Amino acid sequence: DRRIKIAPSILSADFANFGEEIRAIEAQGADWVHIDVMDGHFVPNLTFGAPAVKAFRPHVKTVMDVHLMIAPVDPYIEAFAEAGADIITAHVEAGPHIHRTVQAIKATGKKAGVSLNPGTPLSAVEYLLDMLDMVLVMSVNPGFGGQKFIHNQVDKVRSLRKMIGDRPIHIQVDGGVTTETAPLVAAAGADVLVAGSAVFSGGSVQKPEVYGANIAAL
Ligand code: DX5
Ligand code: ZN
Repeated sequence: DRRIKIAPSILSADFANFGEEIRAIEAQGADWVHIDVMDGHFVPNLTFGAPAVKAFRPHVKTVMDVHLMIAPVDPYIEAFAEAGADIITAHVEAGPHIHRTVQAIKATGKKAGVSLNPGTPLSAVEYLLDMLDMVLVMSVNPGFGGQKFIHNQVDKVRSLRKMIGDRPIHIQVDGGVTTETAPLVAAAGADVLVAGSAVFSGGSVQKPEVYGANIAAL
């Protein structure tokens, strides 16, 4: 269903070759480019900071979607905005003042998303909805690509779609999205699917058509 946007996570790309990887996935049908920022504290893994995101910027022609898995998050929002993020998503679990965090993202002029870990109830975003451009439902515990999809998050997506009503808010799902699970979350109301291993597996910048086939299969 092509109303559904696919946002490949470059966490599964060749880390020595981000510019070419980004061009390849966009040429092969990626709608957005998803960048997983991890701090080794909020999540048990390290990836890239704002200078790396700034270096990706000129290669991204679509939408640079920056998922911040960092705590604290507020001190870094401006840096990621200046690095050229189009959408900045912060976790509700990353601090005591998510409302303030969303205000800070909106103050940069960027689109604002909020993410929920699998164990966090939907009520955590209820009073933020009028400020948000996106809610990200994590369907794995964040930190690593290639994990198994947590099925009860499909119900969360369905309830969130009802809670959102007619507000123009994207529902993004991230983690374990495959050809099996993508239709489930799409049917439940998600409209942006993040996929790392499902997009990059078997392909490379030398074999970009594999990325295209993988994207088309989701
Ligand atoms: C998880 C990250 C995801 C992850 C998805 O911590 O936020 O974006 O890379 O990877 P797959 O699609 O392989 O589960
Ligand atoms: Zn992510």
